[in-house]
Amino acid sequence: MLPGTEDKKHLILTGDRPTGPLHLGHFVGSLRNRVKFQNQYEQYIMLADAQALTDNMENPAKVHDNVMEVALDYLAVGIDPAKSTIFIQSQIPELTELTFYYLNLVTVARLERNPTIKQEIVLRNFERDIPAGFLTYPVSQAADISAFKASLVPVGEDQIPMIEQTNEIVRRFNRLANKDILVECQALVPEIGRLPGVDGKAKMSKSLGNVINLGFTPAEIKAAVRNVYTDPLHLRVADPGHLEGNVAFIYLDAFDEDKTGLQEMKDHYVRGGLGDSIVKGRLEGILQDMLKPIRERREEYAKDRGQVLQMLKDGTRKAREIAAQTTDEVRAAIGLKHF
Ligand code: TRP
Repeated sequence: MLPGTEDKKHLILTGDRPTGPLHLGHFVGSLRNRVKFQNQYEQYIMLADAQALTDNMENPAKVHDNVMEVALDYLAVGIDPAKSTIFIQSQIPELTELTFYYLNLVTVARLERNPTIKQEIVLRNFERDIPAGFLTYPVSQAADISAFKASLVPVGEDQIPMIEQTNEIVRRFNRLANKDILVECQALVPEIGRLPGVDGKAKMSKSLGNVINLGFTPAEIKAAVRNVYTDPLHLRVADPGHLEGNVAFIYLDAFDEDKTGLQEMKDHYVRGGLGDSIVKGRLEGILQDMLKPIRERREEYAKDRGQVLQMLKDGTRKAREIAAQTTDEVRAAIGLKHF
């Protein structure tokens, strides 16, 4: 489904809200793809700190500190600043400016109908006390995407309404400008579905406390794997086991490269006679091996945070040039150029 695999013409914009360390769910859902995409496309990766504030305004220090933590996670998994431009959203004022103009291209009713927003309002228990900035963050996201004229936006399934909303704004603006200034984009949704939490809940999420962070120590990995939800009906080793909803096997499907060995293990488990501890042992070994180099690279980069900050500064400068160019075109198109 990827349009043109070796196509530097396509620009990717993607990003994360820096509210906590990245975990295996991010690794499967986006990080692995970004490491691949950076060789195929021009890729911009944004630390969406301003967006993160839309539901964290009471705790700005958390967002500030996690900008560095998430940047370290990016570098640790192999996102290469020579190939991908990593930047900080809040340091590009043009994104805020575009948001302010675009706000007039959407209605409050349309924002209230946005399925992502509706769901997130429930998750956050905002009920009627919704910060206006939160309700309108899809417009800010449209500004992020369109400022870069990104044609591809890798996001999870839950973010598809954001892409639809972005394209509505892009079309409205272009119609208004009578010129195709902004570019419509396409969501790139990973083929592999969402990784469940270690407790079997549908989503791995820091707020649910069911994560395996990329920076976990060997002891933390061991403890997390011990807690992995398996088959509640598999009480004795001799009992036949079930694979459906069995998180140990779902993780093995995602990370075990020995597919034949894994299939044999599954057959044995379903037949009966294979204990959970053996399955978990295999999973733990794979995760320890996979996360060790990531953790070590992270520790190495973390020794020189000044250098990471400089990388972010360079990336932000480069990104701002593009955003400023688009904003200039936008201003001219809507009569905001006087001098
Ligand atoms: N909303 C995205 C998320 O929560 C983060 C994000 C902000 C983003 N701006 C973006 C993703 C632009 C892609 C493109 O994951």
